[in-house]
Amino acid sequence: MLPAVRIDYEEEIHRLRREMNAVILAHYYQEDEIQDLADYVGDSLDLARRAARTEADVIVFCGVRFMAEGAKILNPEKLVLVPDMKAGCSLEESCPPEAFRQFKEQYSDHMVVTYINCSAEIKAMSDIIVTSSNAESIIRQIPADRKIIFAPDKYLGAYLVKKTGRDMVLWNGSCIVHERFSEQELVRLKTRHPQACIIAHPECPEQLLRHAVHIGSTSSLIRFSEQHAGGEFIVLTEPGILHEMKKRSPGSIFHDVPGVSGGTCVSCNSCPYMKLNSLEKIYHCMINRAPAITLSDELMKRARLPLEKMLEMSAAKPV
Ligand code: 13P
Ligand code: SF4
Repeated sequence: MLPAVRIDYEEEIHRLRREMNAVILAHYYQEDEIQDLADYVGDSLDLARRAARTEADVIVFCGVRFMAEGAKILNPEKLVLVPDMKAGCSLEESCPPEAFRQFKEQYSDHMVVTYINCSAEIKAMSDIIVTSSNAESIIRQIPADRKIIFAPDKYLGAYLVKKTGRDMVLWNGSCIVHERFSEQELVRLKTRHPQACIIAHPECPEQLLRHAVHIGSTSSLIRFSEQHAGGEFIVLTEPGILHEMKKRSPGSIFHDVPGVSGGTCVSCNSCPYMKLNSLEKIYHCMINRAPAITLSDELMKRARLPLEKMLEMSAAKPV
C-alpha cells in the first residue's frame, strides 16, 4: 500500500494565494493558526473596509457567512470564498427576514439601523448598517427627531440606548456566546484576581457589562489592553481574541470567562460558527474555488446602499 500523502496546508495556501491573486481576511475569533496565516486580521468594520478596497481577484473570508456576504456585496464581481458555508451566526438566525418585514411595517415612520451581524435580506431592508466599532458614532449623527429601529441585537441595542440617550425600538435578538458568559464565574475570577480589569464586548447583557471598566468592539478591546500593557485582564468576549492581545502585549495576563453550564457543553465560551473554519477547509475552498458566496444582483444592489452609507459615515477616523 502506498503511504498516505500529507499535505502541508499552510504552504499550499500560500502557493494558492499567489497563483489566484487572493487576499485572506480573518476575524479575531478565528483559530490562532488562521489568524497567523491571514493577510489581514480585524474586527467586522476593519474587514469590511479591507474588502471594499482590495485589489485581489479572490477574497477568502475566514469569519462567518454574513461577513463574507458583506465582502461580496461590496465587490460583486469578485469571487468570495468561505471555508465552510455552515458558518452562520446566532444573531443572524434570530432575525428571520419575513418576521422582520412585518415588525418594520408596524414602525413605518422609523429608520432602520442594523448591526452588521445579519443576513443580506435584512441588510436590504435597512437604512444604515453599523458594527460595534461605529454604532455609537453613527447613531449620534442621526438627527434627534428621527425615530429608530435597532436590530437584531437587543443587548447591543440596550447598551447604545444607554450611551446615546436615543430611545430606539429594539428587535429581540442575541448572540449565544456573549449571552451565556457566567456572571458567577466572572465574579469568582475578579475575586481571585482583584487587580484585573474586566473588559467586555457590547453584545453582552447589561448584568455583565456593568462589571466592565471598558466596553468596545474586538479591536477596541485589543487597543485598550495594548494601551495598558503589563496589566491583567478578564476578557468578556470570544477567547479567539486573546491570540492578538497576547501578541501585542506579551507581558500582560489575560483570563477568558467560562459560559454557564448547560446543554452538551459545560463551559462553552467559543463561537461554534467561527470555529467551523480550519486550515484544511481553507485549502479545499481555494483549490475548488468553492464554496463561494452567491447572491442575486437585485439583493446585492439593495444591501449595498446601507453598507456604503456605513462606510461613508465612519470614513477616515478609527471609531
Ligand atoms: P466585532 O465587530 O467587534 O469584531 O464583532 C463581531 C462579532 O461577531 C462579535 O460577536
Ligand atoms: Fe455571531 Fe455571536 Fe459568533 Fe459573533 S460570536 S459570530 S455574534 S454567534
